[in-house]
Parts: sequence; C-alpha cells; structure tokens
Amino acid sequence: MAILYIDNKPYEVKPGKNLLEICLTLGLDLSYFCWHPSLGSVGACRQCAIKVFKDEDDKKGRLIMSCMEPVADKQRISIADPDAQEFREHVIGWLMTNHPHDCAVCDEGGSCHLQDMTVMTGHAYRKFNYKKRTYRNQYLGPFINHEMNRCIQCYRCVRFYKDYAGGKDLDAFASRNQVYFGRHEEGVLESEFSGNLAEVCPTGVFTDKTLKQHYTRKWDLTTAPSICQHCSLGCNIIAGERYGSIRQVTSRYNGEVNGYFICDRGRFGYEFVNAPDRILKPYLNKTLVDKQKVLSEINKSLKSAKVIGIGSPRASLQSNFALKALVGEENFYHGVSENEHNLAELVIKILREGPARTPSMKEVESADAVFVLGEDLTNTAPMLALAVRQSVRQQPMKDVALRHIPAWHDAAAREFIQDRNGPLFIASVNATKLDDIATQTVRAAPEEIARLGFAVAHLLDQTIPAVENLSPKDQALSEQIAKALLEAHRPVIISGASCAAGYVMKAAANVAWALHKKNNSTGIVLTLPECNSLGLAMMGGQRLQSAFNAVLNNHADTAIIMENDLYRHGKTSVVDAFLKKCKQVIVLDHLNHATAQKANFLIPAGTFAESDGTLVNNEGRAQRFFQVYESTEVIQESWRWLLNIGVSAGNTRMSQWQNFSDITMAISKEETLLKGVDQVTPPPSFRVVGQRVPREPHRYSGRTSMRANLYHGRLPRIAALFHDTILLGARMEFRSVD
Ligand code: SF4
Ligand code: SF4
Ligand code: FES
Repeated sequence: MAILYIDNKPYEVKPGKNLLEICLTLGLDLSYFCWHPSLGSVGACRQCAIKVFKDEDDKKGRLIMSCMEPVADKQRISIADPDAQEFREHVIGWLMTNHPHDCAVCDEGGSCHLQDMTVMTGHAYRKFNYKKRTYRNQYLGPFINHEMNRCIQCYRCVRFYKDYAGGKDLDAFASRNQVYFGRHEEGVLESEFSGNLAEVCPTGVFTDKTLKQHYTRKWDLTTAPSICQHCSLGCNIIAGERYGSIRQVTSRYNGEVNGYFICDRGRFGYEFVNAPDRILKPYLNKTLVDKQKVLSEINKSLKSAKVIGIGSPRASLQSNFALKALVGEENFYHGVSENEHNLAELVIKILREGPARTPSMKEVESADAVFVLGEDLTNTAPMLALAVRQSVRQQPMKDVALRHIPAWHDAAAREFIQDRNGPLFIASVNATKLDDIATQTVRAAPEEIARLGFAVAHLLDQTIPAVENLSPKDQALSEQIAKALLEAHRPVIISGASCAAGYVMKAAANVAWALHKKNNSTGIVLTLPECNSLGLAMMGGQRLQSAFNAVLNNHADTAIIMENDLYRHGKTSVVDAFLKKCKQVIVLDHLNHATAQKANFLIPAGTFAESDGTLVNNEGRAQRFFQVYESTEVIQESWRWLLNIGVSAGNTRMSQWQNFSDITMAISKEETLLKGVDQVTPPPSFRVVGQRVPREPHRYSGRTSMRANLYHGRLPRIAALFHDTILLGARMEFRSVD
C-alpha cells in the first residue's frame, strides 16, 4: 500500500492506479469526462486537473491531469487548490461554449454527468453570449437518438464503440474546430452493443430512443435491480417502470459478470412486457373470468385428474419448484427438447466432474489464449463475445507492462499495441463477428469442429486417442492451437449448446481437461440457450417426451404448462396430439403463443418485471431479480399462482409456504444441486446501508443534479450506488455438493 496526501490528509491507497480513480474510490469529488473505469484514460477533456507538489515545502505545485498520472508513495496532491479549481471551472466553461443548454428538453436532463460536473465545478451560469456551433443530427436506427450539438468532445463514444467493442461504423470526423461523432452516413448502427453509447456519453448526444417513445424523467421511474432474461449469461440490469409499463433498461454494475455494459438485446428487448398481446386476465375456455372463478374451477378440475406439470428454462427456480411441488416429483417434466435436455445435463456433468473450473466473464477478459468451438458468441452470448474481444489484448499488454506503461493508460497502450492480438481460435459453422480479431478461423460442420477439438486434446494429452484421417491442414492447425494454449497462463476454452451437438462440448471438455493437467488455471465456459437453462437442469425432473407419453398412454389426463410454448421444444405433430389428448390444459404465461391458444385455463403470469425470482446463469451463478412493479391486473408470479392452486387443493407441503423466501429455503433444502441457494441470494432481511433495496433514486442523488454544488455528489451517490453495486447472487459451488 502507498500513502497519498490529498489536501494534506493522508490516505492509504493501492498502488498501480491513476490519481483520478483513487480520488473517486475514496469518495472525493473531482470532475472528469473522458476517463471511464472500463475504458481507461486518454487525457482528452482536461477536466480532472489537480495540483501535485514535489514535497511538503513545495507551495506552488504544478497542474496535472489526475487521470494521466499514476499514484506514487508519499505523493502530495490537492483537489481544493484554487488554481486547480479555477482551471476545472474554466475547462467546463470552454466545453459549454457550444453546448446548447437545452436541459429542459434533453432526455438526459436530471441524470446527466455533464449537468452534475457543471454545477459541481461552479460553472452555474452561462457566460458565452455568442453564436454556437451547430451540427446536423443523424438517423442511427431504432435504438439510439443523436443530438450532436450537445457534444463536449470527450471521445468516450468512439473509444467504447470502436476500440472496446470493435464497431466499425462510428467515428470522429474532424475539421478545424468541428469534431463530429457519428457514422460516415446516416444508417442503423451495426454494433450489438450500441446501446451502451447512451450510458458512456456523459451528455445527451446519444440517448435511448426506446425511452423517448414513452418518455419519463428518470427520477420518476420506479426501478429494481434485475437480471437480463435474454440469454444464459445473466447480465445485471436495472429495469425502470412508470404507469404500468417498462420504460427503460440500463446496465447494473457487476464486476464479475457484465461489468458496466450490456448488449442491445438485453437493453432494448423489454417491450414484450408492454406488448398488446400480453395475457392480462384469466380465461376459462377463452372466456374472461376473475381470479376466484379460475382458481375454483381449476380446483374442481384437478380433484379427479391425473396431473402432470411441464416446467420451463425461462421460468425462475421458484416457479419451477412450485410446479414440481404441486404435481409431485414423478409428474414434473423439464419443458425442453430431448437434445436440449441432454446438452444441459452434459454441461452439469462437465462442470461437476471435470477438473477445469468455469471462469466468470471478468476472468474471460483476462484470458491470454481462447479457443472457441462451435459457438457464434455474438449471437448466443453477446457479452461473452465482448469479453473475448478484451482477452486478445492480454498478450500484447504484457509488452505494454514491460515498457512500464500502466494498463489504464489507454491511449499509450493502444498506440503501442497497434493491431496486434493475442491467440484466439474460432471453429464455427458460420462466420462470426469475432473473426476480425481471430488468429485463425475454421468454418466447418459440428462433426469437423469436434474432430479438431479432439485432435488438439490428443496433442495436449497423449492418453486421449488420436483423431484418424486428419487432413494435413487440420493437423497443422491443431498443432498451432495446442502450442498457443500451452504457452498461455490463463487459457479458456469456450463451447456451448448452439451446435445442438454434445460431441462438440465433449471435445471442448477434453481440450480443457487435457490442458488442465499442465496448467490448472485453465477454464471452460459453456453457454446454454435460456436464462435459467442451467437452473432447471440442476433441478430434478423428467424429459418432455415422457410427459407426452404419459398423456398419450393414458397415465395422465391434465397438463399444467408453465411459461413454455411446447411447439418450440417438440415436433408440431406430437405436441398437437398431446394437447388434443389432454382433458384439461392449464397454461401459465405472459404472452399468447401457440400452446396458450389451446389452453382450457389461461393464467396471466408475471414477466420478470412483475416478479421476484432466482435464475442460475451458465457458470452456475444464482442471481435474484426483484419485482419492478406490482401489476394493476390480476397478474402475479407463476409460483404465486401455483401456491394459490396448491393451497386450495390442500397440498400440505405448499400450505407451509407463506412467501418467496419459504420456497427458496425449500429449494435449498430439497434440491441437492441447489443447496445453499438461499444463502447466495439476498434474504428478505437484506438491507443496504440499513435500507431496503430502493425503488427510486434518492431525490438529491447522483442521478439528479439537484444540490450537486452543495453535496458535491457525495451523499447521493450512495443511493445511486445501491442499485449499481448490489450483488444479487453468487456462484453455486458445483463440486462441493455431494
Ligand atoms: S458524443 Fe458524447 S461521448 Fe462522444 S465525444 Fe461527444 S460528449 Fe463525448
Ligand atoms: S449478453 Fe445475454 S444476459 Fe447479457 S445483456 Fe445480452 S442478452 Fe442479456
Ligand atoms: S478525465 Fe482526465 S482528462 Fe478527461
């Protein structure tokens, strides 16, 4: 640890960071624009000026940009120095000369970094009385709005879009005093991470167009910490509601999962909650009924029925478990296809029995060699693709460190690295958007991809059988891959379910396990199709085909189908025959689909926004999502409906459960692989700084600029940080479970 004196007060700080980051970490206020914790420093905005002093006797000091200077032991700096303060005020004055001051009509107004910094630095009144520079805005597609006049030239947007996320269609175009950030011509932004522009831009140039369509000031949103439902990675999000509709989704910081960003699917894919074809009321044989009626009719129909329950990989652990408890373990079926069931079981087997652990996305970012088998990550797990994009910098960054350039010094590091990339090998069926940074790519059928994997595994461990009839080209490639993996310190092998072929995952596991014998830092990441695929697989239950057989062979006559369109998982003819044979079909879901159309009882289940629940992501991390708002309709969580049905049917086990927490504890007690799930996710008593999880930002928060000049953002950010930093879950330890 180093001792740093800030305005003559000593602080014990970690060496290796820049002074701005240290000051912000200590909770001290220092204005900044271009620095970003994930993007590092480039010294573009000149806003973070402080004074640094040679020693105790130095009273004059010199102005420096705090984001560009590493912390040193016994260093003396001042934030409060009048010269530094004046410098910061002038800089923001210059930056504001061309800013339109249109906060009253700006979507960012009230949650704007520029507003905060402007008020905080004391530049509260406009002094520039001349004509302002203006630009033409561009149409950038359905997600991002462009308002270039508000730009303060911090360069964060292009640094994120181009440098960090590998986008090719957004840039800075400059001529004299005109710097334009946009596309070379109007058009839809191509990057699947474009939505992050609305968060990294410190002002209102890039804003969320979907919010604009049903705009509300951000302090008027009711929000909750939640988990993205759109792939198996479980990125952390904040969902915001007003007047019964979801208006916005933003990223929520989780250093081990998604960091500061999310993909566009996660950010903009929320409109299904507001969709006009939501199931809003219960129906009995397509006739609208009230809650009591539907429950009493279900109760009657279940009395003499032989009931089965079909669960879902997109429903929470609690909902699946409640269904299982209602129908009994022997009558509970995983509602996924035969192959998907096999693949999910294989993932559990590989993660439980194999020696190689599954790294978090943060760890994938720091992998120094990656081998992808059979996955187009940008489509199946977008944020993992973004993590892989960071990983190829790891090897060149070793040279950067040798030159004593700090890793956070982004401009210098990128200048030094240029286009060099570390080892990344991609064997996939189609071209992928990571191909531009790959060392080698192979386009092949799943069988060929698996053969390549087994060939690499054999080279790493001779006890694994050799692959016969390998072409000289593939032999050379497998040797190149094996060599790169052996030379790496933190190699990661990535595969998953998208080839729908277990042998591809087995090949990946063989590579990881063979490599693990030589390097126990080897990691294996396996992706799955849905947000709770792994959670469902970790829960006991039978195959979907057996559910069909049970009804078709007269062992059952009534099916409760929860949050699942069976036509997506089974053959149309089989599902048709199954539904036709059922005496009663009870469907709980939020959107109308082909299965829902055939329900006798249709129950309106809550989406993630109206529900509490737990999901398990692809690495085995159980994470809670909180209800954003209570629906005004009869909508409630599937597990709550099932509890209502169970209790009125006299199910003694379910009668003991009063609430969410009771179900979670029962899961932990009864499901072997989910033991401890109640411990790794927040209990009802969970408090942050003595408060319940807040549903709206504090009135004087870092998300509003009110009183930023008085509190300097310090008090409020606590409230804002509640959301940004709450960890709603942790990894389940597969191998410590019997
Ligand atoms: S558009 Fe936003 S992020 Fe980009 S340079 Fe301008 S102010 Fe910075
Ligand atoms: S990567 Fe997956 S979990 Fe993360 S935001 Fe995108 S769709 Fe959601
Ligand atoms: S934050 Fe330091 S120069 Fe921009």
